[in-house]
Amino acid sequence: MSRNLWQAVDDYVAGTIVAADPALEAALAANAAAGLPSIDVSAPQGKLIHLIARMTGAKRALEIGTLGGYSTIWLASALPHDGRLITLERNVRHAEVARKNVARAGLAAKVEVRTGAALDVLPLIEAEGLGPFDFVFIDADKENNAAYVEWGLRLSRPGTAIMVDNVVRDGEVGDKRSADPDVIGVRRMFDMIAREPRLSATAIQTVGSKGWDGFALALVL
Ligand SMILES: C[S@@+](CC[C@H](N)C(=O)[O-])C[C@H]1O[C@@H](n2cnc3c(N)ncnc32)[C@H](O)[C@@H]1O
Repeated sequence: MSRNLWQAVDDYVAGTIVAADPALEAALAANAAAGLPSIDVSAPQGKLIHLIARMTGAKRALEIGTLGGYSTIWLASALPHDGRLITLERNVRHAEVARKNVARAGLAAKVEVRTGAALDVLPLIEAEGLGPFDFVFIDADKENNAAYVEWGLRLSRPGTAIMVDNVVRDGEVGDKRSADPDVIGVRRMFDMIAREPRLSATAIQTVGSKGWDGFALALVL
């Protein structure tokens, strides 16, 4: 199976049942115009995040890794009117683009884009008492994934869903000898989750417009 076919199927799914908002298309166009890398979730993945947030009745959400806010818009649009999404982004330029994209989508009142390295900002979020969060989406630097899941757990309640993107990495996650720091970070996260009795988790491999990858999904018990 070729990547072209995976892309064609993603395009078919996106063109039939996903029904992406024009604001989402505008966000991708603004990201490209600003020179941001095209490493946002795909439209079908974005819709999955949106649906899980709705299915779980999430009201407060936390995202680690904003980029231009594409996944942010998918997630924020799943929250109720009085819902709140805090999204963390280290890169100031990415955060600026994201704020504009979120505002264009009419979601500025629900979304706060916080700038800074996530591991510096997360203790502030805890100190400000902004948790517990109902849904946590982790999609930043993979080397810190274990620490992000630990923070997600710390800022959670029983029933919180924690989703982590890019955990398969072209299948390399299965290679214990991999020297790739991202793979090592993902494997460390799997070990951390495996040891953590308060999490019940799985991971699903995916193919699509973003290649061969996958996501992990954990429930806080
Ligand atoms: C894969 S992109 C996020 C894509 C976004 N979730 C989406 O699907 O539209 C990862 C983002 O995480 C940011 N990032 C990387 N390391 C970070 C850190 N330590 N703290 C906060 N953000 C970080 C990067 O600047 C980048 O914008």
